[in-house]
Amino acid sequence: MKLIHTISELRAELANYQRPALVPTMGNLHDGHLALIRQAKPLGDVTVASIFVNRLQFAPHEDFDTYPRTLEADCAKLEAAGCDVVFAPSERELYPEPQGYKVMPPPELADILEGHFRPGFFTGVCTVVLKLFNIVQPCFAVFGAKDYQQQMVIRRMVAQLALPIDIQTGTTLRAEDGLALSSRNGYLSEAERAEAVQLSLTLKGMIAALQQGERDIAKIEAQAMQALTDRGWKPDYMTVRRRHDLQAPQEGDALVVLGAARLGTTRLIDNIEV
Ligand code: PAF
Repeated sequence: MKLIHTISELRAELANYQRPALVPTMGNLHDGHLALIRQAKPLGDVTVASIFVNRLQFAPHEDFDTYPRTLEADCAKLEAAGCDVVFAPSERELYPEPQGYKVMPPPELADILEGHFRPGFFTGVCTVVLKLFNIVQPCFAVFGAKDYQQQMVIRRMVAQLALPIDIQTGTTLRAEDGLALSSRNGYLSEAERAEAVQLSLTLKGMIAALQQGERDIAKIEAQAMQALTDRGWKPDYMTVRRRHDLQAPQEGDALVVLGAARLGTTRLIDNIEV
């Protein structure tokens, strides 16, 4: 496996291949990321993982400075998972000057849910992802399903900008108790870690209510918010949406339940398709 820090070296290396498959990450890798690498591997003729903690997608009060940087451990895991090339640019390499040109995704998709609570988040994500796409020029890119809205925003960007990239979504890996794997789980204390499963349990409770015939979605959402609040969480949203555009569902739509909530100082997100 090759570890490459500069755009020029990466381009020289990738000139040897025709069909790169890219897995963009911010590092601090867990088994969920490694499953994306394994998914990417048979797609192309070279598997590339990028590791870059993207300042553009963090608000000033968020965890950019404390986000764990674990390059050595990440590389060992990537190598074991069969990754061929790791692209880990410095901030100066990726943003040699302030990034004035940005990709602004449409508000109806990017200013709701995560984008509502993290203004500018998807502009930061789309800008770095488009830049990584331009650098790597992948034929395939794999994103995790835990970031449901993110993969949808990226799919739309790729379609609208006619990028010749096949976007694939990997399934969410879960710990034994059901907690979705996330780099941010590492922030949880032991007691918080034990409590954290309540996010997915509450989403499952929302699905159970739907399956039992409850049609009052506002009621299902309010009960889920209250259930987490009663346990000491600070939920941003617990919501039932239609899958294809994440808007409020109409009768007959395929559904997904999505939630984001803060436990102590850690913000967790999760979703389950109904
Ligand atoms: O999902 C992530 O880790 C990031 O948002 C991504 C896609 C690597 C862009 O920085």
